[in-house]
Amino acid sequence: FCSEMPQNEPILGYMKNSKEREQLEAAIKHLRSCTDEIPVVIGDNEYRTGDYFYQVMPHDHHHKLAKVYKATPDLINLAIKVATETQRCWEFVPLNQRAAIWNRAADLMAFDYRQILNAATMLGQSKTVIQAEIDSAAELIDFFRFNVYYLSQATLNKPLSPQPAQWRNFMRFRGIDGFMAAITPFNFTAIGGNLAYTPALVGNAVLWKPSGTAVLSNWHVFKICREAGVPAGVVNFIPSEPVDFGRAITTSPYLAGINFTGSPKTFNWLWVEVGKNIESYINYPKMIGECGGKNFHFVHPSETDIESVVNFTIRSAFEYSGQKCSACSRMYVPHSLWPKIECGLKEKVTSLIVDDPTKYDTFTGAVIDNLSFKKIKDYIMYAKNNSGLQVIAGGKCDDSIGYFIEPTIILTRNPHDKLMKEEIFGPVLTVFVYLDRDIQKTMELVGCSTNFALTGAVFAKDEKFLKCALEMFKMAAGNFYINDKSTGSVVGQQPFGGARLSGTNDKPGGPYYPIRLSNPQVIKETYI
Ligand code: ALA
Repeated sequence: FCSEMPQNEPILGYMKNSKEREQLEAAIKHLRSCTDEIPVVIGDNEYRTGDYFYQVMPHDHHHKLAKVYKATPDLINLAIKVATETQRCWEFVPLNQRAAIWNRAADLMAFDYRQILNAATMLGQSKTVIQAEIDSAAELIDFFRFNVYYLSQATLNKPLSPQPAQWRNFMRFRGIDGFMAAITPFNFTAIGGNLAYTPALVGNAVLWKPSGTAVLSNWHVFKICREAGVPAGVVNFIPSEPVDFGRAITTSPYLAGINFTGSPKTFNWLWVEVGKNIESYINYPKMIGECGGKNFHFVHPSETDIESVVNFTIRSAFEYSGQKCSACSRMYVPHSLWPKIECGLKEKVTSLIVDDPTKYDTFTGAVIDNLSFKKIKDYIMYAKNNSGLQVIAGGKCDDSIGYFIEPTIILTRNPHDKLMKEEIFGPVLTVFVYLDRDIQKTMELVGCSTNFALTGAVFAKDEKFLKCALEMFKMAAGNFYINDKSTGSVVGQQPFGGARLSGTNDKPGGPYYPIRLSNPQVIKETYI
């Protein structure tokens, strides 16, 4: 058990000649020098099938980082059988034993394997060292430690109500019969670990399908957890074709739930498949999903700290090339402040270095793959060819070596343009300049011009406005920031998630998340 709230894992600095920098460089060198072979793992067995693909480095796409074997439909069905059988014993392992394994895994990540995890995230997902450190080190470790704490707190034998002398009532959190499927994204190694291992901590067995573009870092998480003592079969590692995986899990009667982060399109497809098979399941599958955003920064005319607005916006929109689900991609600026903000944004954005993320002065690396590159480039081309839009900074795309896209700022005269509505998931910020007298009207627009509602930020000095913004933007963002950027939520401090098209808003990193993945049982025990 864990009775005290953990501290957030400190972020390391990687200064010249520091030990962590030396270790990181050795890990990068090692991963660059080989092509790792990554099997499918079911129970205790590894499978190397005839069907495989290569994970390449986004910033140098000729470099093959890992050869990844794909699970066939038959293997996915075998994994379902193994997981479902394992679950029946796993949930009876006492919580203190499960908690000890998860805490051990967190310690291994913090002290023994931090740099290999960071190196795998940097090379495989094109993150700079600081972006890797806040993801595959700090956030991943925090998820493991905080979830143990939250589950321990929920499970303490607190009476549910005043207890009469003749009986007592209590609640316990069991796993769900069957298996959970974790379908995880490329953009955070920590989300991969959280989506696969929180259901397992609670007593479920899991099939983990990592994103094809993040397999290497996810594979290291898997191996660390096995070393920490997560038994074979509790989490099964299933790289596979998305459609094969989706079909196999949704047609199994034992599907206990889907823990998903990705696009609304895929999440919708999964719901439809579950709907088609709804009569066949032994449980109603829990559908838990985080599906992206169209996040905003809104500046009020009372704002005087222009430098902070500029810095926060640049960081939110362009760190990790705008590939955080929380990244700011639309900005509303009053006419009176635009000249200063425009000047600041342009000056800052042109100083950003887009290059190999393992170089220490690189601000951001490449976007994840060819598909993303094409999609983002299409949006930029659309802006260049549209007279109502003006590209005021960046706009260059070059995929000759890696999938590089310059941080790009676009000005729109139309607040309803698709650039203000659709998720681009790349380094593209669209700005709408509103007349100061239209502030009320513009605030209304923020909530209704898109169906997403993940993150948002307001910048103002006017207290009355801030109170009003808290009310008006209630539905516009699941994570709402006042005078801070829209990215960078911290486990335990800002549990994360949004409603509407952004997902089921179950707030990973908060106290209710492990509970949502469980099958609670209430017991009335009468004394005889
Ligand atoms: N936790 C990540 C952030 O807030 C998604 O940026």
